[in-house]
Amino acid sequence: MSDILTIALSKGRILEQTLPLLAYAHLTPLEDVQTTRKLMVDGPMIQGVQVRFLIIRAADVCTYVEQGAADMGISGRDLLLEHRPYVYEPLDLKIGCCRVCICGLKDAVEQGEPQSGSRIRVATKYDHLAENYYLSQGIQAEIIHLYGGMELAPLVGMADRIVDIVETGSTLKANGLIEEKTLYDISSRLVVNPASSATKRTLIHPIVEQLREAIVQQSKPEETINGEHDSSGCQSS
Ligand code: PRP
Repeated sequence: MSDILTIALSKGRILEQTLPLLAYAHLTPLEDVQTTRKLMVDGPMIQGVQVRFLIIRAADVCTYVEQGAADMGISGRDLLLEHRPYVYEPLDLKIGCCRVCICGLKDAVEQGEPQSGSRIRVATKYDHLAENYYLSQGIQAEIIHLYGGMELAPLVGMADRIVDIVETGSTLKANGLIEEKTLYDISSRLVVNPASSATKRTLIHPIVEQLREAIVQQSKPEETINGEHDSSGCQSS
């Protein structure tokens, strides 16, 4: 067995929610991964094996895990659905909760969904998810691939709809767009390289179980200072 266990983490907004789960599983990175410019950071030793973290773009986590460059990682369900990598997905971490939605300008959405047989221009980074949905509806979709800021495309007349992540809805609102339909509820998933799952089972299995326990702990309602109950985690997924 290799003497390193590599875990790929997504940069960005998910990272902050990932760290408490890792801490519960005794997997705290030795440097502040939210501020460092390093892409590879050491973690603790477990069972005499050095843990290291890769801090990479969310869209790349599955590639590193599928290729075996990382043994395990944390990836959004949106990316798993879009790219369908060959990885095991043992846990819903119930963080990074949002949804993949079809959205458009208010006026356009209020006119109703496009009719079967019609054509539509759709801006998205989820080309396959968008294409499959419209195909299932008998609508001919021209997919315009963008890397971010999808909400701009309808504003400048480049697309009729977008298929994108909605979390709070504030980006849509700020740009005069509304939701038309939710396609998928999303949360972050623990993903494991299938070969690592076999060869490093004695390391990986306890981590999966500790993370499972962390999710249960984190989803327990907490007393707020007002005496009301609050809970974190996804409402649905
Ligand atoms: C994501 C997504 C939306 C926004 C939704 O973008 O693409 O634009 O967040 O979040 P909200 O519903 O809470 O407003 P992100 O900030 O990740 O940047 P990007 O547009 O560059 O992908």
